[in-house]
Amino acid sequence: MSGDGTDSGNPYETLDGNPYGASVEIFADESVLKEDWKPEKLPEREGELEEIRNALAPATRGVNAHNLFLYGKTGQGKTVAIDHEINLLQEYADDQDDLNLSVTKTSANNQTTSYQLCAHLIKEIRGGTKKPSGIDQQSMFDLLYDEISELEDTVIIVIDEIDTIGSNDELLYELPRARKNGHIEDQWVSVIGISNNLQFRDNLSPKVKDSLYDSEIEFAPYDATQLTSILERRADRAFVEGVLEDDVIPLCSAFAAQDEGSARQAIRLLYKSGEIALNHDDELVCESHVREARDILERKRIEEGMRSLTTQDQFALLSVVSLAIDEETPARTRQVYQKYKSIVDRLDGNQLVERRVRDHLQSLGMQGFLLATTRNTGIQGGSHYRFELKTDLEATLDILAEDNRIDSVVEDLVSVATAKNLV
Ligand SMILES: Nc1ncnc2c1ncn2[C@@H]1O[C@H](COP(=O)(O)OP(=O)(O)OP(=O)(O)O)[C@@H](O)[C@H]1O
Ligand SMILES: [Mg+2]
Repeated sequence: MSGDGTDSGNPYETLDGNPYGASVEIFADESVLKEDWKPEKLPEREGELEEIRNALAPATRGVNAHNLFLYGKTGQGKTVAIDHEINLLQEYADDQDDLNLSVTKTSANNQTTSYQLCAHLIKEIRGGTKKPSGIDQQSMFDLLYDEISELEDTVIIVIDEIDTIGSNDELLYELPRARKNGHIEDQWVSVIGISNNLQFRDNLSPKVKDSLYDSEIEFAPYDATQLTSILERRADRAFVEGVLEDDVIPLCSAFAAQDEGSARQAIRLLYKSGEIALNHDDELVCESHVREARDILERKRIEEGMRSLTTQDQFALLSVVSLAIDEETPARTRQVYQKYKSIVDRLDGNQLVERRVRDHLQSLGMQGFLLATTRNTGIQGGSHYRFELKTDLEATLDILAEDNRIDSVVEDLVSVATAKNLV
């Protein structure tokens, strides 16, 4: 008998307490921390909500709302803000006898051309499950105009994640002008586009900008104070009173603010911290749970992102990782390029020119793996980029090591990093 109570001689004892029964209480209403929970208030976005309202207001006066383009990084409340205002507008319209409004809200959801997006919109407006196909582009556009002509007098089409259509953006030019061009007679149509891809916004053709951009609203990243108030409102409902130690919410906010200022990320971090406390049977959620949660989520994020990297992206990333281990980051493109060449040589890969490698480095910056800063070079008035690793070195090495195209290089880097106590 061990005396620690685990071996009482009763073979059924382990079945006594059902292992699903938690011994501590952490969550009062866990659903509040889920991705699809809709907050009633968005005080941190009062200004943006008002701008949206002003842009939509003409729809209440029987003419078309302004076209609108919302942009900002991920997790900044763009989708939730539009949902909020569209709901209010629809409620208002339902109360007015003489106001006939149709709103179609959809996500472009991997539709990569105007043609596909148009077919997708037709399907959404019909409320059907099948997308039309097998006709040419103009016929597809005409089909959409036919569908719109069946709708109420004022039509608002919200297209979230509009950037998936890339440069094939003709529909965004045509749709807001459909009435002006005589494709639609009775309806007033306006389009709201939403995107977290800032490059997409910059690269839109001037004629689309002209057509789509009556108003443009930027959702700037939340700072730590705003994230704290967002989290406090959730935590009040989600957690049992008193289980969060005082530093938990500020720490979640600080981590998220240091990164992209994403409310989504901050909420996930708080939720994960609570789950970890619960799984450890700890009665209080504390700082160490937040740190553990951050490591888990960070790793998950890197894993997901790295799966979609091209081979050249991987070479570029490995070059910066290698310089980080040499303690030579932030490093200029030229320096990264020297490393890149030696890595590509060793792996027998296809060597790109420096300018193309810089493009890959910038794309890694966009995806959150690298931090890219510019620096003025002084007298000549030029500037140059400097790159450093943004993700955790150890986690990055672990994940890169899983790819057998590059694992030989990664193994060597791990040995050096270990010898230097960097991992
Ligand atoms: N001001 C806020 N108050 C309360 N919750 C918020 C606020 N802003 C964002 N959120 C919450 O944060 C999460 C992310 O918001 P949302 O989905 O609107 O971001 P987004 O800007 O559309 O991001 P993406 O570009 O990735 O689609 C949601 O769960 C949302 O409810
Ligand atoms: Mg969104």
